[in-house]
This record gives sequence, structure tokens and C-alpha cells, in this order.
Amino acid sequence: MIDLHTHILPGLDDGARDWEEALDMARLALADGITTVVATPHLFRQRVVGDFNPPELILERVEQLRTRLAEAGLDLRVAAGCEVPLTYEAMRLLDEGRLLSLNNANRYVCLEMPDTAIPLATQELIFQFSAKGLTPIITHPERNPVFAEMPDKLMSLLRLGCLTQITAGSLTGAFGRRVARFAKQLLTKGYVQIMASDAHNSHRRPPLLKAALQKLTAIVGESRAWDMVAATPQKILNGEPVF
Ligand SMILES: [Fe+2]
Repeated sequence: MIDLHTHILPGLDDGARDWEEALDMARLALADGITTVVATPHLFRQRVVGDFNPPELILERVEQLRTRLAEAGLDLRVAAGCEVPLTYEAMRLLDEGRLLSLNNANRYVCLEMPDTAIPLATQELIFQFSAKGLTPIITHPERNPVFAEMPDKLMSLLRLGCLTQITAGSLTGAFGRRVARFAKQLLTKGYVQIMASDAHNSHRRPPLLKAALQKLTAIVGESRAWDMVAATPQKILNGEPVF
């Protein structure tokens, strides 16, 4: 399995506390059947606008993690990425070529919607990604209260060509029953292409997919469930179309 969305790199956001925790997360992922993790730190450190993680820093941290994994004898592949909030500041960085796409392949980018409101200019901002040849992957829409209240808002983003990634923990109850129900609805309607852990640490939000994969299989069937944790994430890392 490929875990397309994790906060395994230490010192960049609210993810792994230090290298020790990053290695603990790697061990958990491997034991769960994950062969590749994609490190997707938040674009802005501590979500403070202005203090951002530039591509070269994320790539350097990924190299450091690879070295440490090799030293520890852990055969886990790591790819680089970034979780981008839909804000004008992020769009400015996009214009300047300062946003890291998934696996640096210039084809997909993880996009996080604000929890409280969907910006009026969302459509325009999504077009700006498209103009650069980037397809946004909306991260965990099932956890967004605005989408839960107004699913049409999500539908309009999907019509613009966005993909969606649900969080594994949403299916196993980690975010409550309402989120689990909404995740199931989205899956049943065929609105989801990827499941990832969005792991932040080794204890409360670990990089695990296997238990959720069982739930996912029960909802969408074995073939589609596997696609969401293996074939589709691989295409995304390769920069290939997913459909
Ligand atoms: Fe995340």
C-alpha cells in the first residue's frame, strides 16, 4: 500500500515530534503493509501564514529521512509532497513556483479546504492550479463541516476535475460517527479516489491503513478499495492520469 498523505517529517509542522517518532511511524507503517509513504507537511508551519515550508527544505528533509530509514534497516520508500491550504498566500507561492507537487511530478497537489467556510473565489483558485497543469486532490472532505452541511459545494469542486482523498481513521471511527457516515456516503456515490492515513504521530494519529481497508472493502468492494490505497496513489506519484 501507498500512504499518500502523512506528516512524518519532523520539525516542519504539527506532525512527527522528532526523528525518533518519524522512525516509529515508519515501523508502524511497514508492519501495517505500507511500502511507501508520501510526506506531505502543511505548507505553513503551525499554520501561520508567512512562515512556510519551501520545496527545497521538504526535499532535504525527505533525503534525511531516507538516510535514517536505511541506517535503521527499515525498507520504507518515501516520496515528497506538501499539503496546501486554499488561500491567496498559497496561490502567490504557486505563481512563484514555490509549491511542491506530489512526488515533485508537477501533476497533483494535496489541497486542504478551510474548516469554517469555502472561499468565494474557490473556483477561480482551482482554475489557477489547472492553468499550471496541476490537479488538486481535496484532502479529507468527509471531515469538513461545510461540506457535510452543503455537499453541493464539494460536488462543484469535483466537477472542476478535483480528486478526493478520505482519511483512513474516518472509516474506523476516529473522527466520530457523523464523519464516518459522511465518508460512507461519499464512497457509495463514487466521489472518492484515494484513502490515506493523514498520520501525524505514532500514538494518536498513526500511519495505518489496514483496518480501514477492511471497512472500505465492505463499502466499495475489494478491487476499488485496493485501487484507493495502491494503484491510484501510484499513478499519482508517477504523474499519470488516474482515470
Ligand atoms: Fe494532513
